[in-house]
Amino acid sequence: MTETQHAPLRDDPGRAEDAVPAIELAGVRKEYHAYGETVAAVQGVDLAIAQGEFFSLLGPSGCGKTTTMRMVAGFEEPTAGEVYLLGESVTGVPANRRDVNMVFQSYALFPHMSVFENVAFGLRRKRTPKAEITERVTEMLRIVDLTGRERRRPSELSGGQQQRVALARALVNRPRALLLDEPLGALDLKLRQAMQVELKRIQREVGITFVYVTHDQGEALTMSDRIAVMNDGLVEQLGTPREIYERPASKFVAGFIGTSNLLAGDAVESGGGTSVLKHGDGGRIEVGREFATGDKVELTVRPEKMQITADEPGDGLCRVHGKVSEVVYLGTSTNYNVTTDGGADVVVFVQNAMNAEDVARRGDTVWLSWEPQHSYVIGSAE
Ligand SMILES: Nc1ncnc2c1ncn2[C@@H]1O[C@H](COP(=O)(O)OP(=O)(O)OP(=O)(O)O)[C@@H](O)[C@H]1O
Ligand SMILES: [Mg+2]
Repeated sequence: MTETQHAPLRDDPGRAEDAVPAIELAGVRKEYHAYGETVAAVQGVDLAIAQGEFFSLLGPSGCGKTTTMRMVAGFEEPTAGEVYLLGESVTGVPANRRDVNMVFQSYALFPHMSVFENVAFGLRRKRTPKAEITERVTEMLRIVDLTGRERRRPSELSGGQQQRVALARALVNRPRALLLDEPLGALDLKLRQAMQVELKRIQREVGITFVYVTHDQGEALTMSDRIAVMNDGLVEQLGTPREIYERPASKFVAGFIGTSNLLAGDAVESGGGTSVLKHGDGGRIEVGREFATGDKVELTVRPEKMQITADEPGDGLCRVHGKVSEVVYLGTSTNYNVTTDGGADVVVFVQNAMNAEDVARRGDTVWLSWEPQHSYVIGSAE
């Protein structure tokens, strides 16, 4: 897609233009009109992706991830708003004049061409000198760990190897940014996980901005410097994997990113920047925000932050009381489903490293406890 030639990236990391975002979206909207209906696929997205960043767009099917990418790549024009590449508006600039490459889920290699020729294709079209083609393709195949496979046909490679050829084919053009739309979707779980690690390594080595689309939260958490969680055409939260996991900004994000326990309580005490909430019989939850007495407060607690005990936990810990409804042994950990006296269904993950036996059985009444800093307020209940 890239037609322009330029020097290798990141050769002068100190230059001032590094501070300019690689990609910026300002108030970007996209409406499709089909069968007399208007679909607002993207409803006003603002984000800035730094140069060299591994950035993910994460969200459920239909939330507008692919549409967003297609506007960056130039396959679609926004209905409103503006896309900037390295600080310059690309409105009206066709895809083949934009300095970005896109890798799709179906990577469509040329079946009759060797691995080498697949990767060399774009350079040959640009009439790059032969010696330079050999040098660049060889280097790129080294980076994606396919040295020695140059003469094979795609059909003689594994799915993961084919995916790496597709990656090399895009990267050999030295785009400013690489857009990857669910590139690992066709691979089985084990291969996917291996490729996640590989992709991250490759990105680090080439230093190019990667924008990665996925609906798999584990994948996004593993690989990204930052994640934009999308829902219904909007960015619900933008942050590092840790921020998004530990401090989800909404109920949607909390539920979408891993398992999260949703609890509600009534504020009974407040002061010094904290409040105590009552939840069912004996349930006391401390949160790091002040509320008026009687306010109904919603919070989340991650399942691995909770302990499960028969005895009432010590002072200083948040606690709720409940009954075990299910115990699921998973090898490295055991999941306990507990219905609290306050009517919440929660799950607790317990690592099996220390426990020869289950810490509780179905039907047991138990205490769940956690450190107050793991209570995360997401709003007031309706
Ligand atoms: N060409 C089109 N014409 C009409 N509607 C479209 C078109 N392309 C996408 N849409 C609609 O826009 C919305 C967003 O689609 P998009 O492909 O961006 O979602 P996505 O987040 O990539 O989903 P997935 O994870 O399933 O790939 C959907 O409701 C979809 O049906
Ligand atoms: Mg998509």
